[in-house]
Amino acid sequence: MPVITNIEDLRVLHKKRTPKMFYDYADSGSWTESTYRSNETDFQKIKLRQKVAVNMENRTTKTKMVGQEVFMPVGLAPTGLTGMQHADGEILAAKAAEKFGVPFCLSTMSICSIEDVAENTTAPFWFQLYVMKDRGFIERLIQRAKAAKCSALILTLDLQILGQRHKDIKNGLTAPPKLTIPNIINMMTKPSWCLGMLGTQRRTFRNIVGHASGVGDMSSLSSWTAEQFDPALSWDDVQWIKDLWGGKLIIKGIMDEGDARLAVKSGADALIVSNHGGRQLDGAVSSIHALPGIVDAVGRDIEVWMDGGIRSGQDVLKAWALGAKGTLIGRPFLHGLGAMGEAGVTKCLEIIHKELDITMALTGHRDIQNVTKEILYPGTF
Ligand code: GLV
Repeated sequence: MPVITNIEDLRVLHKKRTPKMFYDYADSGSWTESTYRSNETDFQKIKLRQKVAVNMENRTTKTKMVGQEVFMPVGLAPTGLTGMQHADGEILAAKAAEKFGVPFCLSTMSICSIEDVAENTTAPFWFQLYVMKDRGFIERLIQRAKAAKCSALILTLDLQILGQRHKDIKNGLTAPPKLTIPNIINMMTKPSWCLGMLGTQRRTFRNIVGHASGVGDMSSLSSWTAEQFDPALSWDDVQWIKDLWGGKLIIKGIMDEGDARLAVKSGADALIVSNHGGRQLDGAVSSIHALPGIVDAVGRDIEVWMDGGIRSGQDVLKAWALGAKGTLIGRPFLHGLGAMGEAGVTKCLEIIHKELDITMALTGHRDIQNVTKEILYPGTF
């Protein structure tokens, strides 16, 4: 077993242990993947200011996200098909998050259902919603999230039409995978993944299958998004959902200051600066690039979070210093999950926390609440 010291180590193991079509689904962006890449590289351009001879004892990274206490300003992002990276993936990730004291958000496009996660965890989790044409189905999904005592709803606004991801098309992505010769050959090289999948019943989109009607090929993400997702989604629908839900609402997919103001107007509790991990509008600026303008525009009126490109605790601290009151990580935890199941997600959270904590100390702080832009080197952000 290799010694794992960073997220890249988990990525390498994930790639080795998970069928190609699911690894590729996680590790890709749309079209040229330029936004996917700049989400990461723009973080690297931001430099830190080293401070010495300040007391670094008794450090804390604790804060609150939408009023909920968190061990660090990091949540597990809603990611599709998580239960295909590892058997029962959503349940395992939710368990790891619960033990670590950070939030877990379940995607509409999950394999394990809202009920599966609720039955196997005790801490409240969050639910992420996509708006589909069948409003009756949306109403039922919201009721199910309420019944499961989800403590916040993340409404994603940037995926009413799926951005084209070349690898998914070439791989013929479905859940479960079709038993074609190339898929069987590839799966034979992933024995622990296969064993896990044979040991669970959870192998389809369980929030959807048996709950929604009129979808042609339920195993294909691209065909059911094309058929079901509502391209006419508007801010009036956001209001309708807010009223139906009645709890904490977080708007995801804001990259524009005008949209940020509309999110404030909607009465949401938080917004997430996000380009969907570079998986939707390729050519959009990176999330960390967009963050400061949005914080300037609405940071006093709403909690601003960000996601996209975070691969270390240093990235979390940089986002915090630029005004993000919370961050979400997607690929890093999927790498942990694909590498080692629940223990891998825990490992991912430990790595991120350790890097965050030590970087905070070396920039002269012991309480994340006191960290500001001052820790960043002028001219690099
Ligand atoms: C779904 O959210 C995706 O990005 O595939």
